[in-house]
Amino acid sequence: MIESILDKSVLQFEDIVQLLDCNILDAKKLYEHAAQIKKQYVQDKVYFRGLIEFSNFCSKDCLYCGIRKSNTKILRYNLSDEEIIDAAVFAYNSNYASIVIQSGEISNPVFSRRISNLLDKIHQKTNNNLRITLSCGEQSNEIYQDWYNAGANRYLLRIETTNKDLYYKIHPNDKHHSFEKRINCLYDLKNIGYQTGTGVMIGLPFQTIEHLAKDLLWMQEFDVDMVGMGPYIEHEDTPLYEFKQHLLPLEERFDLSLKMIAILRIMMKNINIAAATSLQTIDKMGREKGIKVGANVIMPNITPGGYRKHYKLYDNKPCIDENADDCKPCLEMRIALIGNEIAYNEWGDSSHFEHRFKNESE
Ligand code: 5AD
Ligand code: FES
Repeated sequence: MIESILDKSVLQFEDIVQLLDCNILDAKKLYEHAAQIKKQYVQDKVYFRGLIEFSNFCSKDCLYCGIRKSNTKILRYNLSDEEIIDAAVFAYNSNYASIVIQSGEISNPVFSRRISNLLDKIHQKTNNNLRITLSCGEQSNEIYQDWYNAGANRYLLRIETTNKDLYYKIHPNDKHHSFEKRINCLYDLKNIGYQTGTGVMIGLPFQTIEHLAKDLLWMQEFDVDMVGMGPYIEHEDTPLYEFKQHLLPLEERFDLSLKMIAILRIMMKNINIAAATSLQTIDKMGREKGIKVGANVIMPNITPGGYRKHYKLYDNKPCIDENADDCKPCLEMRIALIGNEIAYNEWGDSSHFEHRFKNESE
């Protein structure tokens, strides 16, 4: 009985597996329960994070990712500092209150100095009133610390899967793609004081619901502040594409993603959960459905229009023809439709983080 699982104060592994495996009718109950918890703990609010995908150069070769180093079919770009700052100012003037600065993974002193300098300039131009999240991959503890000192508040680094065997099925097994290093990076970020975000892809080849259940338990144990997770979408020019026939149908990957969001909301009531853009690749109302079942963050793409089509991590990425200005009215309409309110001018810090911090300093 799904009710008896939903009534539990702590979900065990077997409970989570059962929820991930439940039928449509039970899924509806799961979604309603998660929506109730969301309303109670973080309100029916959606926080916007303007997403600036400033460069698609990447030194890594993840087997699923369209901007992997070995993909020679894409045009590489790198926004100028001015373009990045303009996009940040656009977010600020649009009352988004938060931005995410994302790129492929590059580690060298020029890159890290550039980020510190950008953080400084963006804070100057926005009266120190914009929350900045970085999502620039694995870096040394020192560099994470430098960026934190320069004014980064949050960091996103998806673990992608917490199962080590699966990790090495979707990444090359070499010194540039170490499961342990990725986990260590997450601990470094947390120890420095970042609001720390992670996430996984859902519906990967070779992935089971038992893996996904363990992913959720890992997030809880790590005590993550923010999560972004969405369906895996195959990209034609990547090595993982050859396993296309082993994948769940897109609709099932979508439903599984909604279940993951809803279960996580029940397990970690006051964290921030983003409705990933890849949800929208499968279903035109995908992100909004994610919000309905427990997510509370959307990352509207504010990368200047011309560059968006080159930051293609997966096929059929949505909104690549639009400009940042076009996304705002579109999202406003969609969010109003599902009875949520956009929290303009609010930073929307993870309330989980605030509580964690309070408890630690006592
Ligand atoms: N399908 C879905 N998500 C993907 N990502 C990368 N490639 C894909 C794909 N093919 C996600 C990864 C990464 C984030 C920036 O995008 O989880 O961390
Ligand atoms: Fe760039 Fe994975 S391909 S970090």
